[in-house]
Amino acid sequence: MTYISKITKNTERNADHNFESYIKDQNSKSLLRFITCGSVDDGKSTLIGRMLYDSKLIFKDQLSSLKAESKKHGTQNGKIDFALLVDGLAAEREQGITIDVAYRFFATEKRKFIVADTPGHEEYTRNMATGASTAGLAIILIDARKGVLKQTKRHSFITDLLGIKNILVAVNKMDLVNYDEKTYEQIKEDYLSFAADLGTENISFIPLSALKGDNMISLSKAMPWYEGSPLLEFLETVEIEGDKSQNPFRFPVQLVNRPHLNFRGFSGTIASGSIKVGDEIITLPSGRISKIKSIITWQKTEKEAFADQAVTLTLEDEIDISRGDIIAKRNERPEITDQFQAHVIWMHDKPLLKGRTYLFKSCNKSVNGAVTEISCKVNVNNMQHEPAKILELNEVGIVNISLHELIAFDRYGVNKTTGSFIITDKITNDTVGCGMINFGLRRAANIHVQDLSIDDDARAKQKSQQACVLWLTGLSASGKSTIANLLEKKLFALGKHSYLLDGDNIRHGLNRDLGFTDQDRAENIRRTGETAKLMTKAGLIVVASFISPFRAERQMLKELIGDKYIEIFIDTPLEVCEKRDPKGLYKKARRGEIQNFTGLDSPYEVPLSPSLIIDGAHLSPEESASKIIDFLEKNNLI
Ligand code: ADX
Repeated sequence: MTYISKITKNTERNADHNFESYIKDQNSKSLLRFITCGSVDDGKSTLIGRMLYDSKLIFKDQLSSLKAESKKHGTQNGKIDFALLVDGLAAEREQGITIDVAYRFFATEKRKFIVADTPGHEEYTRNMATGASTAGLAIILIDARKGVLKQTKRHSFITDLLGIKNILVAVNKMDLVNYDEKTYEQIKEDYLSFAADLGTENISFIPLSALKGDNMISLSKAMPWYEGSPLLEFLETVEIEGDKSQNPFRFPVQLVNRPHLNFRGFSGTIASGSIKVGDEIITLPSGRISKIKSIITWQKTEKEAFADQAVTLTLEDEIDISRGDIIAKRNERPEITDQFQAHVIWMHDKPLLKGRTYLFKSCNKSVNGAVTEISCKVNVNNMQHEPAKILELNEVGIVNISLHELIAFDRYGVNKTTGSFIITDKITNDTVGCGMINFGLRRAANIHVQDLSIDDDARAKQKSQQACVLWLTGLSASGKSTIANLLEKKLFALGKHSYLLDGDNIRHGLNRDLGFTDQDRAENIRRTGETAKLMTKAGLIVVASFISPFRAERQMLKELIGDKYIEIFIDTPLEVCEKRDPKGLYKKARRGEIQNFTGLDSPYEVPLSPSLIIDGAHLSPEESASKIIDFLEKNNLI
């Protein structure tokens, strides 16, 4: 929001003069996106504030409010406190709202800038990743008195992870070390020896004092030994490697544009490379081939278009393309896979669970998938790989991911847009993580689905029934197993072919390696769900009795099994279950002998819209089973 409002202000201010030429001017300038990393103590906000102020980039209204604010909140004895300029709007400050990532726009004669300012503490890895994802340069602030700290390394590592190839190390507070050249040289040496392990290609250093303005806009007389450029000049002239236009052409389709029958275009923003009318293209993952007929921008048609341009493409042939497909040149294709290895940054309080189904979004496409293996987590302080079973908030891990559909991708190192994705929780829609694809896994690449001659319906018909999964969920001792058993007896008596999958039994065989952590429970349900699905394909009525405490896994079952999934909630209150306690497990759990016991120290998420609710406290198992049979008859399922 800050970013937008700054642009608007900037535009309005110049509107009085010459709007047209201003816009033209701005459009012709190159844009540098950068991120500043460092904690408040390093003088990060002062650095940005000073840069805006000294280069006369602060607008008058902001300036007068800054002076007033400095008197009220400032830490600089009545002088202007530049940190206030960056720390957000007064109203936000007074309300104590923390801005996770603040984007600021400014422009000089030579260049336009967008700076992402993020908090630097460890718990903010998530914010830093958000701010850094589009940046071409990172400024890493070091306090000259303190030198290279743990946090300097952490910031550098995350920058490296996100593929930022240009680093500027700003050695700040030089005034507090008497502008000593040796101190600066030592910091430079320390940083370079640490950074040797990183993939960063260009590392530059500037000694400065943001507070005093040394080496900010012009070279400081206090440091005659420094031979480089001042900060602003550096930012205006630094060449950012990895020009997107040099990369192969990638066009993720955002919208299929069909205003009338005679026109069919594909709209989106060119992620990388360029395209010309007449170029041969391929659509992915479907693999259809055609040629570019026309390129349309918001004003006119073009012969050629480049990275970052928003365009509509039309093709010579009528081929089927949908949102989320990628158009590439025929001879420069991205890879296609449904399994890959990636670095993941976890951004949510609830940890990443292996086996749980999440939504993976990349280039306008959303696909269900799960992490199948957490190889390790990466300690962001020293880059060491450490064993991990789950990933928690702000942790970085290397994981294998398996998607339910094929996607077209490039490695993140090659293309940040087609190589990155975000992860969202399917139940809450929260963004829970983001990731960078390292490489595709070939595991399933040469395995094709084998068609069977006898189809699923034929198998059910032969048994004179419809296949389905009657999934009983509820607390331990709610009566699930007893009801399931009676239900199966009734089905049997009716001549139906069924099979009962019971949690306790499955955990003795197929799932004997699983315990009761959230992650193991997710995997327990995933494997059982796949088994139940196979059984429905064989034409059976499956009765499944599992606590299955999480909505996410029950949602996964619903999507996996489809219409054949019937959720039955055995609704017996915890007090009743605990009183029954047929296996003495509640007692043991209360004594602390069993951990993660559902209802006690592990949650049970009540179903929100089950097909049927059974009042397990008031109905006998016999009545409950009959009620389920009635339900099946009423719905013509048996
Ligand atoms: S689920 O949560 O993964 O669906 P499942 O239904 O397979 O659980 O197994 C639950 C059964 O395991 C319970 O009925 C109980 O007999 C036993 N059990 C042992 N430890 C626990 C525990 N910590 N929490 C719940 N059930 C447990």
